Amino acid sequence: MVSTILDSYRRRIDYMRISVTDRCDLRCSYCTASRFENLSHDDILRYEEIERVVRAAAELGVKGIRLTGGEPLVRPHLDALVRIISDIPGIEDISLTTNATHLAKYASALKTAGLKRVNISLDTFKPERFQRICGRNALGQTLDGISAAQEAGLYPVKTNTVVMRGVNDDEIADFAQKSLSDGWHVRYIEEMPLTGPENTREMVSIAEIKAVIENAFGSLEPCGPAAGLGPAKYYRLKGASGTVGFIAPMTHAFCEDCNRLRLTADGKLRLCLLRDDEVDLRSAIRRGADLAELKDLLLKAAQLKKERYDLAGKASGLERQMWQIGG
Ligand code: 5AD
Ligand code: SF4
Repeated sequence: MVSTILDSYRRRIDYMRISVTDRCDLRCSYCTASRFENLSHDDILRYEEIERVVRAAAELGVKGIRLTGGEPLVRPHLDALVRIISDIPGIEDISLTTNATHLAKYASALKTAGLKRVNISLDTFKPERFQRICGRNALGQTLDGISAAQEAGLYPVKTNTVVMRGVNDDEIADFAQKSLSDGWHVRYIEEMPLTGPENTREMVSIAEIKAVIENAFGSLEPCGPAAGLGPAKYYRLKGASGTVGFIAPMTHAFCEDCNRLRLTADGKLRLCLLRDDEVDLRSAIRRGADLAELKDLLLKAAQLKKERYDLAGKASGLERQMWQIGG
């Protein structure tokens, strides 16, 4: 029987983000301050192990799964994992967060396997800037990946842009334009200062970003999300088939609507993006815990979720960086 996970603040947990690898082929400055050792092959949950966690979660009412990284598509045969998860009763929505450098190759296989939609990280349309922000210029591959996702019917294609003052803030209108010209669902994210001096520049607030867009295109009409129940607020430009969305971790904490747990590539349940509290599932799985025990661990973990994050206290102080958590 399906029950529900309610945390101690009566938030319903029905969504799980699963990091399938801590490896990435890019080095975005806001995500990667320094790289430590990558996890070893044995540290990482095998697909059958991830399957058991998802089965337990699904029996507790988790309906949405998002695969993240690092870069999830650097893990071989990700479509096989998508297939496994989409066959689990109760799972209604599988999505992927990717930098899209490898997406052109895999979009159609992923769609066939049961992937519904993708969120793609893209911060600039200028090759030399891409190189500066992400350590390597993969703009062409990323744009090809976005087109392939649209052609494969992975709908909606959302993009994530971290707006950085003096780096890409002059491209705010260019992204919004894509909601008009190409049906993209573009999202702007306030930069969280998590990697030290590289990104402690003055943050560009969502209020400021909205003002730039309204100045260029006229007023924004609020609308619902095309899919998903995350923290973004969505708007539409007049005549656009896509939308523009805003995620404001710095100026508007969205903890009251938190609906998620995170599973790290090495099998730890992470209770909050911005807190280091974790519950170890891998050792339970590897000593043979059955579904009932995994469900019990999930329920207990949810009870440990705190009411909200403490960004000020955590700036640059997270034990894991974004590439190890998956955003
Ligand atoms: N601030 C805001 N967003 C971030 N992301 C990664 N690091 C940060 C940060 N410091 C987001 C990126 C990427 C997603 C995986 O996480 O937009 O798309
Ligand atoms: Fe890789 Fe994504 Fe981090 Fe960029 S933001 S380094 S693409 S994991």
